[in-house]
Amino acid sequence: MSIGIRNGTIVTPSDRYRADIMIEGEKIAAIGSGVADRVDSVIDAEDMLVLPGGIDGHTHFGGGSQEAPMTGYETSAAAVLGGTTCVVDFAPQQPELGLLASALKHRREAEGVSAVDFGLHSVVMYPQASIFDELGALVDAGISSIKLFMAYKGTPLYSTDDVILRMLRKSGELGILTMIHAENADMIADFQRQLLSEGKTEPRYHAVSRPPFAEAEATYRAIMLAKAARAPIFIVHVSCKEAMEIVRDAGMSGDPVFGETCPHYLTLGVENLARPGFEGAKYVCSPPLRECAHHDSLWSALQKRWLQTVGSDHCGIRFAGQKDLGRQDFTKIPNGCPGVENRLAVLYTYGVSTGKLSLERMVDVFAATPARLYGLYPRKGGLLPGGDADIVVFDPRFRGRISNSDSLQGLDYTPYEGMAQIGRAEKVLLRGRLCVDGGKYIGAAGQGKFIHRVPFGAAYEGRRRSA
Ligand code: URP
Ligand code: ZN
Ligand code: ZN
Repeated sequence: MSIGIRNGTIVTPSDRYRADIMIEGEKIAAIGSGVADRVDSVIDAEDMLVLPGGIDGHTHFGGGSQEAPMTGYETSAAAVLGGTTCVVDFAPQQPELGLLASALKHRREAEGVSAVDFGLHSVVMYPQASIFDELGALVDAGISSIKLFMAYKGTPLYSTDDVILRMLRKSGELGILTMIHAENADMIADFQRQLLSEGKTEPRYHAVSRPPFAEAEATYRAIMLAKAARAPIFIVHVSCKEAMEIVRDAGMSGDPVFGETCPHYLTLGVENLARPGFEGAKYVCSPPLRECAHHDSLWSALQKRWLQTVGSDHCGIRFAGQKDLGRQDFTKIPNGCPGVENRLAVLYTYGVSTGKLSLERMVDVFAATPARLYGLYPRKGGLLPGGDADIVVFDPRFRGRISNSDSLQGLDYTPYEGMAQIGRAEKVLLRGRLCVDGGKYIGAAGQGKFIHRVPFGAAYEGRRRSA
């Protein structure tokens, strides 16, 4: 079965040009003028942009706590509807299990259910000595990144500096990319105690307890630990100018230091946490939303390549019954916001349409660079002959508003409710299969495949730390 995409404008991280694409089975067979003249079916992409399917390197399907489990892969069609054809999802270490066994369990739970292709990041939760001996097996299983948390003291998520340093050393040797949630846990715990003792229990105190300097301090410390270990490091969900500048300076000095930000840190301000009627809980995530002045710093950092990727940090947490757990105490509000469906729409509407981000940079942070950093490129993240036919036909003329009522995220809210949307993924192909048509999802549950990722450095030819 062959498909031709004709008359569209192809956008890559460095270029845009008119050309046709021929797809054979699951792969792109050819790109050029006239290559799609003899095909079984044709998609006319006149006036459309043709983009690589998005890579969302930061999702939490099925994560969360026992009291507030997040929605799982049964809602992953939302990713595809929003133009994301592959996610790299977090597979947290389970109690009494090692990293590999936990990741394989997560993989089994996703297979046959996921609508989107997926890779997995391992997440350290119980740093017993044996986990350091499992890292080679993780790479063999196609899992070439690992996340540790400097935040969330008093929970299994929290890792000490010595665990992080040890993990960076071993990971660096094996081609595993270490991902860090950088916030100073002691400062936050101290602020939380102080605020609660003053009766300050509402959602807005979540942000007060986690100031930009707590993020900046941990970001700097994480990067210095990576320097000591001579290992690459990836700082997830950079939310503020101060932390961004630390990532920027390290990256510009040639160290393999990379940073991600998220759509909510680019568009939503801290004032949302003060919405009346406990509505502010919908916006509780960590790091917290910041003053709006940070938004432009982050857009500019993406445009200037000081930050490299945009991940959604999608957390399928319901407002009713889950965020509710923190009505009397902001520290008990489950952290995280949904958004796997909105990443492309937010980048285009608030970045490209406003002139803050070029189209080419959008493609880079949305698809190409996450694919490179996470060991998926060139199979995914680009429009290349031989690569998977993961393609978004994007209509820049679309005008609408984001609404939870149109969403496949399976939740009772979206933090972007009512916000204007310019452009949308009109058609999405996942490995050659048409899954979104006319902006509506028509794919099948279980169509998503586990994607084996190669070690860091094998797919990324960028900056390397010199010995
Ligand atoms: O608030 C957030 N981001 N929750 C998800 C876990 C994490 O820190 O990424
Ligand atoms: Zn995090
Ligand atoms: Zn996260």
